[in-house]
Amino acid sequence: MKAIEITKGVYWVGAIDWNIRDYHGYTLPGTTYNAYLVVGDKIALIDSAYPGFDNQILERIRSVVDPKKIDYLIANHVEKDHSGTLPALTKLLPGAPVYCTANARQGFSKHYDTTDWNFRIVKSGDTLSLGRDRTLTFLEAPLLHWPDSMFTYLVEEKILFPNDAFGQHIASSQRFDDQLGKEETLRHAQKFFANLIIPLAPRVLKKLEEAGRLGIDIKMIAPSHGVIWRSYAADIVNAYVNWCKGVSKDKVTIVYDSMHGSTDAMAKAFAEGIMDEGVEVKVYVLKDGKAEGTHRSNIVPDILDSRAVLIGSPTLQNQMYPTVADFLSYLKGLEPGKLAQKKIGFAFGSHGGKGGAIKLVAADMRAAGIDVINEGFEVYYRPDEKELQRCAEMGRELARRVKSL
Ligand code: FEO
Repeated sequence: MKAIEITKGVYWVGAIDWNIRDYHGYTLPGTTYNAYLVVGDKIALIDSAYPGFDNQILERIRSVVDPKKIDYLIANHVEKDHSGTLPALTKLLPGAPVYCTANARQGFSKHYDTTDWNFRIVKSGDTLSLGRDRTLTFLEAPLLHWPDSMFTYLVEEKILFPNDAFGQHIASSQRFDDQLGKEETLRHAQKFFANLIIPLAPRVLKKLEEAGRLGIDIKMIAPSHGVIWRSYAADIVNAYVNWCKGVSKDKVTIVYDSMHGSTDAMAKAFAEGIMDEGVEVKVYVLKDGKAEGTHRSNIVPDILDSRAVLIGSPTLQNQMYPTVADFLSYLKGLEPGKLAQKKIGFAFGSHGGKGGAIKLVAADMRAAGIDVINEGFEVYYRPDEKELQRCAEMGRELARRVKSL
């Protein structure tokens, strides 16, 4: 196992997790836990990896230098996917300073036995010189992703190590954006943003402004997951600004589940009406996320850049369908409708008894920040031809409204 030199004296020494498919409710095609070795007169290691990946990290370091020669440990984030190797490293390097925020110190002490850790607490603007034109500047980034998070910046090389921010969950033999490809890298970054960063969008925008004020000029972004932005750093920063603002396009995403095919028929009639007006539509049937591509985490990227969202559910025991409840619970946490550019939508579904699921769906859509523009459409048992025509017409009306926003 080898390190990859990303610029002179700076090495990727991370771990590739080829097998992971679920990470706190997010389905992913593997990932990487990136760690970076910065070599000056002194040597610093930035971040580590998930527990169990110690050997990958240590072997890659060993391909550059004896791990015992590391002088400083930089811990940008407490979450275990970036700190799981720290217990082994602090044992290997007794007394080595661990640079982190005050919140991180508290967080580490709840995760590990830190009795022997030599913490050095940093604040925004603090620096650490490694000699030989190597200066690290720290920037506190609370809640990006946890209260403890911080960014580290290598001043002379203009490399930002922002931990989770700008990351992508992908396991790949490529280490750089131009190797994986711009579109592919942005696609994975958008999924990461949609599933993890949406609720943090205002903080991201503020942090980018603060970085600008501090004169942090970014040439390369080396996140803690996925590939390194060396050719498209400006593109991912621009994309983040747009995603943070909720910039969307003439597009509708329809998400639903169906018990006996009635809500399914309605969803497809809405889609036909939307297409009649030349507006892009994406349609997802939930089915417990077991069908390829229908997992909740694969749907929210489409919601992120949609101007409208329709959510359909049959009524079951006077409630919405369980799969729809699962999806809406996730969506309420992310609150994509609360981004600066608003989203509109409504609920739909069928019922065989008292009905009422669509009122519950609409309430949850509002809780996710979506502007619910009407009472929705609920049909008794199966939609007849006239009702399907009404669905198509509501689709056309929605599409016209989407184009006017
Ligand atoms: Fe990749 Fe918040 O951990």
